[in-house]
Amino acid sequence: MEALRASYAVPSLNYNNIIPRALNKCNSFFKPKFMNFQSINYHKNKSKSFKVFTISSSSSSPPPPTLDQPAELETKTPDNEKFDWFSAWCPVIPVCDLDKRVPHGKKVLGLDIVAWWDENESSWKVFDDACPHRLAPLSEGRIDKLGRLQCAYHGWCFNGSGSCNLIPQAPPNGPPVNTSKKACVAIYPSTVQHDILWFWPNTDPKYKDIIEKKKPPYLPELDDPSSAKLIGSKDFPYGYEVLIENLADPSHLPYAPT
Ligand code: FES
Repeated sequence: MEALRASYAVPSLNYNNIIPRALNKCNSFFKPKFMNFQSINYHKNKSKSFKVFTISSSSSSPPPPTLDQPAELETKTPDNEKFDWFSAWCPVIPVCDLDKRVPHGKKVLGLDIVAWWDENESSWKVFDDACPHRLAPLSEGRIDKLGRLQCAYHGWCFNGSGSCNLIPQAPPNGPPVNTSKKACVAIYPSTVQHDILWFWPNTDPKYKDIIEKKKPPYLPELDDPSSAKLIGSKDFPYGYEVLIENLADPSHLPYAPT
């Protein structure tokens, strides 16, 4: 998964080294609750243009939700409340790690997404990383001369709203097939805060303006110029709980990096 790190008063950390090798080799043994799922499946709702998530859990767990029963990826809090990972802003990547000239494919919360810079709206967009035509990864496409996200397979072009602006193969005098809802990409609400790109991991249109009701967690230190800040990103093949446990154990630092 894509893990985000922000470190203070630590000039540099080599996470490859400070994660114990034994831990790396025993991912399945230490597999955190967050990753304790056999699979996460995504279904296109045939009547709507957004996705429904279902999760297959272990045999001892309750049966997975159905299409009629909105799926949840839940974590129990200390108060035994349920935390729905798909109903919360999620960091994607620091903006400093993004190149505006190309689309960026990421896997976050098990979702394949593509982040790209929409120069027409001067904002970062987060789309489902699947072209509505033949499901080619849009992250392998390009930003065209008009600032649209263009699929590398047949050249369909999408604007920042996910609408298809161009189907090169469509006859000029034919029906405007590009305006069909089936030609639209599923888009995720996104925003930038603390120089980090965030997305709301649900493409249901009812969350389109979620930023007006709920914002990502605000950490004043990250906007305080008197605070030291080191920010970057790295892909880790395990859940965040393993990393947090490791960072909360500083006594290994004099030994593990050597
Ligand atoms: S798969 Fe994207 S344009 Fe055909």
